[in-house]
Amino acid sequence: MIPVILSGGTGSRLWPLSREAYPKQFLQLAGDQSLLQKTLSRLPSDGVSAPLIVAGNQHRFILSEQLADIGCEPSAILLEPFGRNTAPAMAMAALQVAATDPEAIMLVLPADHHVSDEQAFRAALARGEAAAEAGSLVLFGVLPTGPDTDYGYIGAELDKSVGEGVLRVTHFTEKPDHATAESLLANGGHFWNSGMVMFRAYRYLDELKTHSPDIYDTCQLAFRHVWQDLEFSRIPAEIFEHCPDDSVDRAVLEKTDSAVVVPMDAGWRDLGSWAAYWESQVQDDKQNVVVGEACLEDSQGCLVHSKDRLVTVLGVNDLVVIDTRDALLVARRHRVQEVKTVVEQLRAGK
Ligand code: GDD
Ligand code: MG
Repeated sequence: MIPVILSGGTGSRLWPLSREAYPKQFLQLAGDQSLLQKTLSRLPSDGVSAPLIVAGNQHRFILSEQLADIGCEPSAILLEPFGRNTAPAMAMAALQVAATDPEAIMLVLPADHHVSDEQAFRAALARGEAAAEAGSLVLFGVLPTGPDTDYGYIGAELDKSVGEGVLRVTHFTEKPDHATAESLLANGGHFWNSGMVMFRAYRYLDELKTHSPDIYDTCQLAFRHVWQDLEFSRIPAEIFEHCPDDSVDRAVLEKTDSAVVVPMDAGWRDLGSWAAYWESQVQDDKQNVVVGEACLEDSQGCLVHSKDRLVTVLGVNDLVVIDTRDALLVARRHRVQEVKTVVEQLRAGK
């Protein structure tokens, strides 16, 4: 099994800690390793080859440093000149793997997750492997706790022919609106998509060719012109710029008939927003989470993150305060999804 780590996101909802130049996958958000390092460290020790990393060109030095830090020697580092989202990133990885062995099993992992039960995580991978060998696209599904609109929703049914501990995917809905998410949950039989996928390299390429031929064709062409620069395999900008920007969820998973899902109960969480981060941390008896220097009085349900100076919070509830040297975020906890919009406005100079 070849692990492929997608490490090219910008993590804008975790601003101001996550920055374009230093996005969230490189941050030590929980413990003494970055999210990327944790992703690599939790891989099984047996039956797993050297990982392949797909990342943004601008992060190559942070990436190399963090890999060296944990003694990780990747088989390749594919550098994108700019992000075109996960469907092309996976295509470039699959082309790289298929050049040597089209049948090889790839395990594609996002680099922005928290997993508290690593044994359960590895057991889920083992359950998925046989289905991937048989030619399926294997997803890993998490039991939903509410109508969250940040996830893909996987509809699944029992089907003995797809193997033990595995369900057939009947439909996939990427990030539904709130009403749709509620009705999917009310129907039952749905999982959240964890974003991890396992498949034979050629199977992903076949599915991409069928459902999103423009991405397939552009990536094929780009792959023929990948050039080596030290330890980096660089994707040419003048070809990749013509690649449509699309997620694997919309480009392939919503359309394929070949997906199965392995239910996974591993304390999984996408650390995608400050609310998700607050939920993932140990809270005190007033549901407050403090990282760094802070003093909270008569306050409840707050997240305060400050490494450089003392922050005091008095008489407020459900507030997020993230302090950094050059920027401060103060937001209501239930509105932190909108941080992304604020960042877009800042970038546009509004
Ligand atoms: N190399 C590369 N290039 N990596 C990328 C790119 C890109 O252009 N865009 C995103 N990534 C990486 C991110 O760094 C992250 O590790 C992973 O791909 C997933 O991207 P996100 O942008 O974080 O996706 P999401 O969280 O909004 O949605 C996905 O994950 C959810 C679970 O966390 C979807 O798969 C959802 O269906 C799923 O529920
Ligand atoms: Mg994510």
